[in-house]
Amino acid sequence: MQRSDLSEKFLWGAATASYQIEGAVKEDGRGPSIWDTFSHIPGKTANGETGDIACDHYHLYKNDFELLKRLGVNTYRFSLAWSRIMPQGYGAVNEAGIDFYNRVIDCLLEKGIEPAVTLYHWDLPQGLQDFGGWANRDIVERFAEYAELAYKRFGDRVHHWFTHNEPWVASFAGNLQGRHAPGIKNIAVATAVSHHLLLSHARAVEVLRNSPHGKDAHVGAVLNLYPCVPASDSEDDAACARLADSFQNRWFLDPLYKASYPSDMYEKFESVYAAPPVQQNDLSYITAQKTDFLGVNYYFRKVIRKARADELSGPDVLHPVLPYVETKPAGAPYTAIGWEVWPEGLKDLLIRIRDDCGNPPVQITENGAAFEDAKMTADPVYGETVADDDRVDFIKNHIQNISEAIDAGCRVHAYYVWSLLDNYEWARGYSNKFGLFKVDYKTQQRYWKKSGIWYKNFLEN
Ligand code: NOJ
Repeated sequence: MQRSDLSEKFLWGAATASYQIEGAVKEDGRGPSIWDTFSHIPGKTANGETGDIACDHYHLYKNDFELLKRLGVNTYRFSLAWSRIMPQGYGAVNEAGIDFYNRVIDCLLEKGIEPAVTLYHWDLPQGLQDFGGWANRDIVERFAEYAELAYKRFGDRVHHWFTHNEPWVASFAGNLQGRHAPGIKNIAVATAVSHHLLLSHARAVEVLRNSPHGKDAHVGAVLNLYPCVPASDSEDDAACARLADSFQNRWFLDPLYKASYPSDMYEKFESVYAAPPVQQNDLSYITAQKTDFLGVNYYFRKVIRKARADELSGPDVLHPVLPYVETKPAGAPYTAIGWEVWPEGLKDLLIRIRDDCGNPPVQITENGAAFEDAKMTADPVYGETVADDDRVDFIKNHIQNISEAIDAGCRVHAYYVWSLLDNYEWARGYSNKFGLFKVDYKTQQRYWKKSGIWYKNFLEN
């Protein structure tokens, strides 16, 4: 498996997100986001950890981009903190925030790295949450205004845009499970949020197409997708796996590609008075705003079985309308978060997208793993290095599956490792490490990991 096995134009990158790395949450006029609020509520995050300082990337971006350059990537995916450039989320623009992203973009371009920008990676300005956030349909226009500002100020140099990152997580982890900001546990709020995220995605695509820089730009949404497979041969488990697929994957894929919601899930939500607030033409409008690619974040597969009656109110069941649980096959390898290592799942997903969504171009916008990273070794060139052989294998095997999917006719043209740096893994705090580089949070020193060195060598050859 070599870089040259894939197209010369293939985009190789690493990815990050604003709240997970920037820190400097009160600097230069940045307004608060729902993650500032949520992470400061006692008990919401591991050890009460917040993104206040994170990787201090706000100050260390030049150093970090030097590492990016040494990796040899040709693209870098990062997100804008909406409240850095519009502190309330609407109205006044904060020029100091615009300046920061101008510096970031220019620094990347100087190093020959293409900036690829996510508009929304979960850090909604608190000023908009105060009006109901994504549950209030007005936010669709607020997002369109914010997107327009970003295109206007950065679109002369940024040609790759992602509208939303993992709307499933923003909707359901944030508003049904309550384990992410804003910490709401209400199924009707969650489905409303999901619908407005989809609508605002479509509006942001439309605004880009009509913007002066629209012609040179590529845009898509980023979904977290999982092959959902039954835990046994039973018809019950198979039916549950289909439902899980509707909820995890089709809830966002079908509106994007088929102008509908999957009927089985729609009916489940309707049965508890939580159907999304769809207005006439919403779905045809969403599908009509054609994207240039689908962004796919792939981490693991879901192995599904029917829940027993006594499990229906347990912690593993999201809601009684979803009568299944996720199981962990014995003997399989798992990451430090407990996600099964299943590289073949990426190929399965890509083939499914080929067959179900009209074979759109695809970017793997995130793929990576959290491991313990306990062992350090001394390297003559790179100094103190993390011996993360498990992550090397993880990345290698996933790239191998992408290559096989391309051979099978899938149109994949980008791969981003999650993540450039160890960073703030949301409610899990800092103990789950995904980086190609280790961050010592006390000194803000960065260290190479073997996976970073492997990626560099792979990209060089
Ligand atoms: C997906 C999210 O986009 C990212 O923010 C997160 O850190 C990774 N998955 C790992 O969980």
